[in-house]
Amino acid sequence: MSKHIISHNYQVSKNDRIESNKHNSFLVWFTGLSGSGKSTIANLVEKALFEKGIKTYSLDGDNIRKGINKDLSFKPEDRTENIRRIAEVSNLMIDAGLVVLAAFVSPYKKDRENIRTIVKDVNFVEVYVNTSIEECERRDVKGLYKKARAGEIKNMTGISAPYEAPEHSDVEIKTEEESIETSVQRIIEFITPKLLRQ
Ligand code: ADX
Repeated sequence: MSKHIISHNYQVSKNDRIESNKHNSFLVWFTGLSGSGKSTIANLVEKALFEKGIKTYSLDGDNIRKGINKDLSFKPEDRTENIRRIAEVSNLMIDAGLVVLAAFVSPYKKDRENIRTIVKDVNFVEVYVNTSIEECERRDVKGLYKKARAGEIKNMTGISAPYEAPEHSDVEIKTEEESIETSVQRIIEFITPKLLRQ
């Protein structure tokens, strides 16, 4: 399909945008169970970066699954397509010079590896928000676990669908053991050197 598509050379490049912004662009990807705290932490990381003058954008279920991906369900093939599209959107945003914060369950290892391939290894930071299923179910902020137990929601990650935990994430946050402030601080410390241009 793409064999007759020939890229246009634009006058303004990614490098120009990075020079103008005075920082690198990359993707910070948060993975973990529903209700693990991904979006909460991603939001606070974005706020801290934004306050330092970094150009950022957040992607999460609200702006993706209600818009560009509203045709996708939670069956495995659709989750794979969900993540692929988000990775492609993130890739454009990296080209646009932004630090992208993306919070998605992304339960399959192969899908997370695919993100790394799409945006390239150097542009990918994986944050594993490690909250146990017991704790997520106890919090049940959205009432989804209760519905899943009652059989009203199928393919619920952690209940009736798998979550393949990362083994080598860049940052692992254990929300049951550390405060949210410490978690945010650790992520900021990890990404700060990556912001510097060569
Ligand atoms: S992913 O698996 O494809 O990465 P995504 O992060 O976009 O999932 O969406 C997950 C959010 O959708 C959850 O936080 C939850 O609010 C909601 N949701 C609804 N149904 C399910 C389900 N079956 N499994 C997981 N999350 C679900």
